[in-house]
Formats: sequence, C-alpha cells, structure tokens
Amino acid sequence: MTRKLFVTTALPYANAAFHIGHMMEYIQADIWVRFQRMQDDGAGAREVHFVCADDTHGTPIMIAAEKEGITPQEFVAKIAAGRQQYLDGFHIAFDNWYSTDSPENVELSQGIYRKLRDAGLIVTKTVDRFFDPVKGMFLADRNIKGECPKCGAKDQYGDNCEVCGAAYQPTELVNPFSVFTGSTPILKPSEQYFFALSDPRCFAFLKDWLNTPGRLQSEMVNKVSEWLGEAGEKLADWDISRDAPYFGIPIPDAPGKFFYVWLDAPVGYLASLKNYCSKKGIDFDALLNDPDTEQVHFIGKDIVSFHLLFWPAMLHFAGHPIINKLKVNVHGHLTVNNEKMSKSRGTGISPLRYLDLKMNPEWLRYYIAFKLNAKVEDLDFNGEDFVARVNSDLIGKYVNIASRCAGFIAKKFDGKLASELSPAARAWIAKALTRDGAERQAGIAALFEAREFGKALREIMEVADITNQYVDENKPWILAKDADKSAELHEVCTTALILFRQLTIMLAPVLPQVAAKVAEFLGDTRLSWRDTQGAAVYDIMLGRTIGAYTHLMTRVDAKMVEDLFDKPAAPAPALAAAPDVAAPAPEAPPAADIEALAPEIKIDDFTKIDLRIARIVQCEHVAGSDKLLRLTLDVGEGRLRNVFSGIKSAYTPEQLVGKLTVLVANLAPRKMKFGVSEGMVLCASSADEAANPGLYVLEPWPGAQPGMRIR
Ligand code: MSP
Ligand code: ZN
Repeated sequence: MTRKLFVTTALPYANAAFHIGHMMEYIQADIWVRFQRMQDDGAGAREVHFVCADDTHGTPIMIAAEKEGITPQEFVAKIAAGRQQYLDGFHIAFDNWYSTDSPENVELSQGIYRKLRDAGLIVTKTVDRFFDPVKGMFLADRNIKGECPKCGAKDQYGDNCEVCGAAYQPTELVNPFSVFTGSTPILKPSEQYFFALSDPRCFAFLKDWLNTPGRLQSEMVNKVSEWLGEAGEKLADWDISRDAPYFGIPIPDAPGKFFYVWLDAPVGYLASLKNYCSKKGIDFDALLNDPDTEQVHFIGKDIVSFHLLFWPAMLHFAGHPIINKLKVNVHGHLTVNNEKMSKSRGTGISPLRYLDLKMNPEWLRYYIAFKLNAKVEDLDFNGEDFVARVNSDLIGKYVNIASRCAGFIAKKFDGKLASELSPAARAWIAKALTRDGAERQAGIAALFEAREFGKALREIMEVADITNQYVDENKPWILAKDADKSAELHEVCTTALILFRQLTIMLAPVLPQVAAKVAEFLGDTRLSWRDTQGAAVYDIMLGRTIGAYTHLMTRVDAKMVEDLFDKPAAPAPALAAAPDVAAPAPEAPPAADIEALAPEIKIDDFTKIDLRIARIVQCEHVAGSDKLLRLTLDVGEGRLRNVFSGIKSAYTPEQLVGKLTVLVANLAPRKMKFGVSEGMVLCASSADEAANPGLYVLEPWPGAQPGMRIR
C-alpha cells in the first residue's frame, strides 16, 4: 500500500527574510521528503505532499507595515516575493507555498473554532490588559517596554529581559511605556476567548496521545509530560483572542475580536494543503480524512508548546482523524561559530550571500545533513569544519571515484561498461554494500527514515572508502598503460562506477543536483531506491553505454568561507557585556580627512535645539527651483508642516515619501521665495563638496515615531 505523507516545515513569520537557521530546517525536511520520494517500489511507495506558507498575522507585522505606510497584505506580499530565490537556491522542493492570510485559512480556522466551541471547549473571561490611551489600542507584550523587574535593566520588552534573561508578565515591568507613543499604558478590562486546556478531557487526550509509542522523541515526551503535570493541574486555559486593531482572522460571533496568530498559524498547514489540492485536482477532504494519511511536521525546539499541546488538542477536538497519524519532528537550532541567532536578524552568514559567492548549495546541504541526528540538539556551523568535511567527503571520497575511472571508459571502451564481472570484482561490490551479512541499503534507508542523517552519511562514506580502497589496490591509471591489461582496466572501472552509482542513489536526497548530473551521465535517470537492492545493483549497469563524464563538484575554497562571514560595518560598542567577560577593545579605525570639530558646547546649548522625528507625508518638486524639494511633514502635532529642503540633487520625491527623518522643529519659520519653511530637515554632507557632493538624509532606526524628541 502506498504511504501517504503530508509533510510541512514550520511556517516562517512573514516579517523578515530567511536566515541560515530557516534553511537548516528546510534542508532537513527536504532531504527526508526526497528520500521518501525515492521509495517508488510497489508496496513501499510513497505519495508525498510537501507544503509550507508564510505566517502572516499578528501585531509585529501589522506595526511593521504601518511604519512603511503600506497595508499588512502589501507588506507580507513583499516578503513572500523574496522567498523563491532561497528555496530554488538550496534545492528545497516544496510542492506548494501559501499564506495564512488566505480564504482557505479563514474558513478552516473558523471551522475548527466552531467545533471546539460546540464541544464546550471555548470559554470567555474578562482580563485586564495593557492599553495605550493615546493610540487607543491594546498592547501586545512586545509593544510594551520598561525596566526589568528582576535586574532593573532599562528598555526591556514586556515578556522577557534581554540582559538577564528573566521572563515575566508585562504588568510586572517597572515604569512601563508604550513603544508607539511613549505613554504610560493603563489596565483596561477586556473580554477574552480561551481554549479550555484545563478541561479534564484535554489532559486525558494529551496524556494518551503523548505516550503512544513512536510518535515523539523521548526528550519531547518528557518535556510535555512536565507541562501536563500529574493530573493536568499545570494546564492553563489558552488565550486565543486579541482585540482590534489586529491583523488576523475574525472570531465568529465575536465582533472586534481576532484569533491570536498562533491559533490560525498551524491551521495554515491545512490551508496550504487545501490550496495545493485544489490546484492539483486532489480531493482535500478525502486525503485529510484518510486514516492512512500521515501528517509530519518539522519544527524547531522554540515552538514546541504550540505543536505538542495546543495543536494536537485542536485537531483532536475538532474531529480531525489525522491526529492519529500526527508526527512532530523537533530539531535543535543552528548556531554559527557557536553564536545564537536572533529570531529576525539571523547571524553571521546570510543564505543569499552564500549563493552570491557562488558557493555550491549542496556543500551546505551535505554539511548540515552530516551534523543532523534525530535528537533535539543544537548544531554548529563552523567554517573550518565545513571546508574540511566537504572537501574530504564529497570531493576526496565520492567525486574522486568517478573522476578516476569514468574517463577510461570513454577513452578506451567507447563509453561502454563491461558486460560481466569476475567473482573477485563482485566480491568487492558485495563487501562494500553489505554489513554484518545484510544489505547496507536497508539500514541506510532506516536511518534516513528516522532522520539520523549523520549516521546515514557516515555509513555511505564507508561504502565510498571501500570503493576507493578497491581503486587504490587496482590502480586503473597503471593498468591503462599496458594494452594487455585492457580487460582488467575495463572491469575495475566498471566495478568502481557500479559502486559510484550506488553512492549517488543513496546521496541523492542530500545532493539532488549532483545526483541528477550523474544520472544523466550514466543514462539512468530514475534514481530509485529499489536500485540499491539485489540484482538491480548490476542489471542496469553491465554492458551499458554511458555518456561523457562531466565535472561534478569543485572543492570549497577556504577563502569563500571567510567572505561568507558578515563583517560588522563598525565596531559595535560593548553595551551590555557580561561583567566577567572582557569585551575585546575595538581597534581604532584609521583617521579620515574630516572637517574640524565645532567648539565645545554644554548640554544646555544642545537642549536648546529641539530635534524631532518627522514622517515625510508628501514630497514634491518646487516649480522654478533646481535645488529644493517641498516636504509635508507629520511631527505628531496634529497638523502638518511645510518645509523646503535643498536635497533635490540627491533624492527623488518617490524615494522620500513615507520615510521617517529628523527635523529641527523649533527653528524660527523662514519666509522663502516659494513659501514659508517651518523647520529644517537634517542631512549629512562632506565639507569638501567638490570631492564628495553627496547629501544624506537621516533616518531613525525602526520603532521611532513622529513627534519623538531626539535627546
Ligand atoms: N511563525 C512561527 C511558526 C508557525 S508554525 C505554524 C515561527 N516562525 S519563525 O520564522 O520564527 O521560525 C520558523 C522555523 O525556523 C521554526 O521552526 C524555528 O524553530 C526555525 N528556526 C529559527 N531559528 C533557527 C535556527 N537558528 N536553527 C534552526 N531552526 C531555526 O516560529
Ligand atoms: Zn533583567
């Protein structure tokens, strides 16, 4: 019977481009999926549907869009448009990429919610929430800042402290303020909708689900058991509602309330599958309700509670039978040179830069696969280790076999492989492909299935080692010099290429592109796992005419890896170095020939100048002036200002509209030929205009709002 697999990776937040950690998750899932697709043998065949989507809803994306002066939909569309280059670049073969901001997701999320409500698992409670009285909006944890209640660090978010790592409620912050308006938030009662996880039915279900053997990694069973407590006493109801304004899906029959993003995000898995099914003419309901369909999620360790508590409970109580075949594969995080990656920024190496440097994506796929296992362990990308691993295994062991043998077949035997092999040659093949008396391929397949990629690759490299040993002992390059040894040469090269093909098939999930090239040169494009067994190892190859060997892969140049690491633009000041770790003193950059500093002033002199953040609401050319642009600025005063600025040589109006900048707000208004200018926009420029005529408008870091004072 064909196994039906519905496979996903986590749906990435559509607030930023991918970082190398995302690529790790996709590579892991893609290898697993490709492995499954190679099982095309009658009984064990697989039908795989591999989908993903952008996770679009929630406050951060809403705010980010607002800052750019665009709708959240436009913001998300911009992010989504950037996805494909990463996926193509690293050979990630999703069948569908969709969005949680979609009609399918609205329908499915609301449908699941209604089922939960009918089951008596939705309750409402009135809770006090922080509210920004100026903006007239309830505040998410990340929209509130203040002093850490534990260590006193200033400017910390409402959920946890980045200095001491403490987690707390936003109401515990000292001197809290709204990040939007700087105002002190007030507590305001709001009716909230909860998923009643404390209901004894949830505990009973989860306990049972969790302990079904083979479903979860043992570390995860332990972790979730802890969350459940002895009898479910630790399970708290989950707040699934957010107040308008919120970018999300409306809660049915609850005006002004939206689903919290984490309610509709996992439903997005189903939405993407549904969208894919309708494109392919597959019956979505039949697939989802088929008791044999397996649902497999690949996720990182940071989002386990959503996937191992809420999501299974949602599926179960909404009556989705697929819960019985739900499998969640949790991986650790990728670090780069042992440095943690920030959620949105990533760190160290950028996937696009990797591709720009023309580094081979399969090097990274191999390296990551080699380091992966089925545990929830972090793995580190280390530059030197990467170079050594790729060059030694892929070039030194694998590619080396073909490059040493294929040429002779073309040159001396018209591209035709030997039609038969001596018992000695067959014995070498058997030696390479068996272990403890059994075919290795079955064990390797089991390792791929179990996501023990590192172990699978180690074993595949053992096959490569034995093959190289065979080539080394038989020295085709010596045989080729002796016309009498032609038959031997033919056999040695044929034997080595038979094993090379085996290696290629088994490496194909990891190295799809190289495998495709090899398949083409061997004239065997089916790359099926069934050809790793029994007679199929020989059948296709003996007597076959193969094509010309094409170069498969180059070595990694260590210099490339050096270029890969982002070099910080300027030495970052050590703001919050841990007390016992001395930050290395930044080296002074070489002096440039800059304008002399103005005479020293006192702070009072400075505070006389009132600098404010302003939004450029409108910008236009000024008829009759070749220097000026007319700016309409919002400085948060409830009126707009008219300011003329001599920046026409450097910017077009389109570049400026919607941006934030800095205004001298208390400069006396000045009457000009074209009208009154109510302030001055600041610009950087060189004193030596001839050498550097550039003008550079200032732009604050994200988060600044019109009206904020610069001090
Ligand atoms: N939007 C949620 C997931 C919703 S799933 C219904 C989210 N998005 S995310 O963009 O922050 O993360 C997406 C995936 O990338 C998660 O599985 C996360 O664990 C994974 N990774 C984030 N950083 C990572 C590493 N440094 N290494 C490996 N995976 C990483 O969470
Ligand atoms: Zn703290």
